[in-house]
Amino acid sequence: MPEFRPVPIETFVFGCHRFGFGPPPGGGPVDVAKHVVPLVQTALDLGIRSFDSAVLYRATLQLGQALEALNVDPNTIQFQTKCLRYLGLQVDGAVEHQPEANLRGIPARYQGLTDKWDCTPAGIEQQLCRERIEYGGKSLSGVALHDPPDKEKQVGLDWATDITPAVAFLKTARNAGAVDRIGLGIKEPAFVHRFIAQEPGVLDYAGVTFCPSILGPLMGILDAAGKHKFQVTLMGINYGQAFTLTQDPATAPDFLYNYEVANAEERALMSRFFYICGSTPLLHLAAAVAGLLAVNFPGLMTQIVTSTMTPSRLVETVKLVREAQVPAPVWAELKAAELIPKDFPTT
Ligand SMILES: NC(=O)c1ccc[n+]([C@@H]2O[C@H](COP(=O)([O-])OP(=O)(O)OC[C@H]3O[C@@H](n4cnc5c(N)ncnc54)[C@H](OP(=O)(O)O)[C@@H]3O)[C@@H](O)[C@H]2O)c1
Repeated sequence: MPEFRPVPIETFVFGCHRFGFGPPPGGGPVDVAKHVVPLVQTALDLGIRSFDSAVLYRATLQLGQALEALNVDPNTIQFQTKCLRYLGLQVDGAVEHQPEANLRGIPARYQGLTDKWDCTPAGIEQQLCRERIEYGGKSLSGVALHDPPDKEKQVGLDWATDITPAVAFLKTARNAGAVDRIGLGIKEPAFVHRFIAQEPGVLDYAGVTFCPSILGPLMGILDAAGKHKFQVTLMGINYGQAFTLTQDPATAPDFLYNYEVANAEERALMSRFFYICGSTPLLHLAAAVAGLLAVNFPGLMTQIVTSTMTPSRLVETVKLVREAQVPAPVWAELKAAELIPKDFPTT
């Protein structure tokens, strides 16, 4: 009998980004009735009541339309989103920062636009207003600052003009009851520590893109979460596609590692995981690690955001997080190779 990890269904959050980016199975653009409604129905049938989106994902309207089609009152679900990064017109030499793989199935209404940044309080208010209208409920259960470290790399980040006023606006919105929680949605774990040092007492949840190869930094965030009283959200568990590969990542076709095309070093790292895992699929390792985090850090690691365009895969992910088995010798070898922290609890 497989050992069952008691991960409550409340831990699972459905990530909506593919409602905007696609592609759906078989390719082509995303269609709400054909692709979004069955996924939202599957999530609700599983007992998932929380959905995660972002202004940038161009996905929230589709979620709202699916809820309407299913006759679900949007106020009966929890909806959290992200601001700062938004969709703008392709003018004045604006460039697209998304990898090509993320742009393949975009619905027609969102084509020909590109990602931009607006950190002003008025801009953020507009972004959140649009999210609230498109989702259709009364309040936002969480709003995260979306990818400030990406902004820093791409166009620069000035804390005093880009973060402090945004935080002040979100605090006002939280005090007014329009937003329940203030969060981060980021790909760089170190930014969490920078944020809590610069903006003490603000953070309700730190959402970081996750996979087993960043367990070390994640343990540091959990430590800070205990001390500074915030919760941790895993924004995905496969780092894009890295932990879904079934062939040697060293030679596999292009895949996403932390949502950018994997480079040679990342391929080599993933290849080490692949060979040590042996007959245990990488997908099972990622799910088991996520489940162990939920079980061993209750109250701190509270959300696993996962997403797919295939309903049966959502069912499978929930099952794997609770049941996927990694043999003891594989854990031992991963720890000996320093791919998993030595003190990580594997039961
Ligand atoms: N910076 C940020 O704030 C940030 C960044 C990234 C993500 N996020 C959030 O996190 C959410 C989840 O991200 P994610 O979708 O990349 O999550 P993920 O859970 O890490 O990975 C999803 C990937 O796993 C694949 N997959 C899922 N179940 C599978 C199965 N049973 N067999 C094989 N492959 C399977 C999916 O493929 P298919 O889709 O083809 O099934 C997809 O490629 C997003 O929707 C978003 O809300 C936030």
